[in-house]
Amino acid sequence: MRRRLRLRWDALLTLLLGATLGFLLYAQRDGVAPTTRAPRAQGRAAPGPTPRLRVFQIPDAGAVPQAYEEDTPPEPPAPTRTFDFGRYLRAKDQRHFPLLINEPHKCRGYGAPSAGPDLLIAVKSVVADFERRQAVRQTWGTEGRVQGALVRRVFLLGVPRGASYDWAEAEGEGKQTHWQTLLRAESRAFEDILLWAFDDTFFNLTLKEIHFLAWASAYCPDVRFVFKGDADVFMHVGNLLEFLAARDPAQDLLAGDVIVQARPIRAQASKYYIPEAVYGLPVYPAYAGGGGFVLSGATLRRLASACAQVELFPIDDVFLGMCLQRLQLTPEPHPAFRTFGIPQPSAAPHLRTFDPCFYRELVVVHGLSAADIWLMWHLLHHPHGLACAHPRTVATGPFQWGH
Ligand SMILES: *[C@@H]1O[C@H](CO)[C@@H](O)[C@H](O)[C@H]1NC(C)=O
Repeated sequence: MRRRLRLRWDALLTLLLGATLGFLLYAQRDGVAPTTRAPRAQGRAAPGPTPRLRVFQIPDAGAVPQAYEEDTPPEPPAPTRTFDFGRYLRAKDQRHFPLLINEPHKCRGYGAPSAGPDLLIAVKSVVADFERRQAVRQTWGTEGRVQGALVRRVFLLGVPRGASYDWAEAEGEGKQTHWQTLLRAESRAFEDILLWAFDDTFFNLTLKEIHFLAWASAYCPDVRFVFKGDADVFMHVGNLLEFLAARDPAQDLLAGDVIVQARPIRAQASKYYIPEAVYGLPVYPAYAGGGGFVLSGATLRRLASACAQVELFPIDDVFLGMCLQRLQLTPEPHPAFRTFGIPQPSAAPHLRTFDPCFYRELVVVHGLSAADIWLMWHLLHHPHGLACAHPRTVATGPFQWGH
């Protein structure tokens, strides 16, 4: 009798242990327990356990990395491996820098005193990248009337690293350096340059974000929509305007390539490495990829004041997600925004990335050279139209913007 009892006791214990082990294994598999997998992603964040809206693509080790990493000098220099977070944290209360080149009348002069442009295109660029700015100016960033909509354009620049001495002093004493002279001339010629006094580095893109939001709500308060993106994207203005035609600029809207449940990258070797001391939560708020997104005038104004309250965070699009979270505003995923570029040909051999018919269906594609942008634009705007295998289903007639 006693022996049987002991046997039963043993069985119970085994069962209990087995159940615990099973639970642990299960938890591990589902990502409840912390995993030790080191993300080799070059993207902004590791994929979340259950990406609901879009699957984050981790590029192959040998694949073409994101902007800011491979791009020749033009883009801000890639951060060094040993980013000084301590210094960043200590300096992050300094977040107001003067505007060195302004375009105060960018959004004025459309007859009715309070009528702003329909679309303001704001492009992140760096001083050295004149060639890409030219490509954007002459293709998708053209100012004026596009399908009846009034479009205006600005480029957002900081001071090239290592050149951040007193600009005003140099101006006054006629001791401008080469880049200052060139940028002044470019600004006079195209009237689309905004230059702020912070170093134009990858980790200062958040400063660019808040300074642009503040600028746009001050100098462009009546703009209906704003497109903000990188200089290495291809943007299909017609498709964007079509998408916006049904939207009310007085309502909240922020649409783009939305990433949800992204986990901070804890691998120090990554460019997007974020230590837990800087961000302790397991996932980032939903955010739109910084390569290109669109927002309404109403959201612009609300974001400008929300972001002014949020502590600086070194990854600009995640930072914007934090501002959105503060407003309890969910970014809207739009399948035609491909801000992380097109899948590598090996991953998707059926997608011919140089097929203009492919681009015709999209709004934003990331990771293009100035030449790609030119070529794609001219192929898409060929006077005799495109002969695509699958005719487009969306209505193609010109639509009218009503104010
Ligand atoms: C950002 O710009 C400021 C002002 O130019 C500079 O002091 C700081 O080092 C920059 N921060 C980073 C992370 O590059």
